Amino acid sequence: MAAVDDQDALKRAAGVHAASYVTDGMRVGLGTGSTVRFTIEAIAAAGVDVDCTATSVQTRDLAVGLGLRVVAPDALGALDLAIDGADEVDPALNLTKGGGGALTREKVVAQMAARFVVVADESKLVDVLGGFGTPLEVLDFAPGAVEARLRDLGAASVSVRDVRSDNANLLVDARFGATITDPVALGTSLSAIAGVVEHGLFYGDTVERVVVAGTSGIRELTR
Ligand code: 5RP
Repeated sequence: MAAVDDQDALKRAAGVHAASYVTDGMRVGLGTGSTVRFTIEAIAAAGVDVDCTATSVQTRDLAVGLGLRVVAPDALGALDLAIDGADEVDPALNLTKGGGGALTREKVVAQMAARFVVVADESKLVDVLGGFGTPLEVLDFAPGAVEARLRDLGAASVSVRDVRSDNANLLVDARFGATITDPVALGTSLSAIAGVVEHGLFYGDTVERVVVAGTSGIRELTR
């Protein structure tokens, strides 16, 4: 139990730190998960005057409940900043995302943002992506065909979650093991599979910084 509490404290530290990047007048993309939740709470507590868009229904409900102004992405057009969590971060700041199932909306919002800041506790740092599994959002049309293509690409196992995405699609986890040394190459192959709506590999060149909280404090990873 103590370990869980410690991890929660680290998530809070990273999440709160990243809220300092949010200033009056910004258009801000709000990510999804238990780390960025602390960012969203800190933004609301700071009382900054910002326009937000959310990467999930869960985040929208949280932010609206805290009194933040939340609108659809297209109502803002472009974003000054997006802040989100990650399931894995490699040394080149490539990410695995989608543990919470929001990967497609998260990627849309990240791509809209001039700056993409990631918040994580140090347990998310890995040498090579893939140990967590690779989440995908998949059309509910021929998931068996998609699974076969994923196995062709080297997935040792593929499972479908019980819950669907906010877009009513399937959420699938493909397990390639901690072998993803070239996330761009694998991501390109995953995107080429018809029926894959989106994959949870986010490329390091889209990430401005990763705010990492560890037992020795906060550090910021940049490329
Ligand atoms: C949701 C995500 C989350 O950012 C990721 O799962 C990290 O979550 P947490 O901060 O709860 O560990 O990608 O789809």
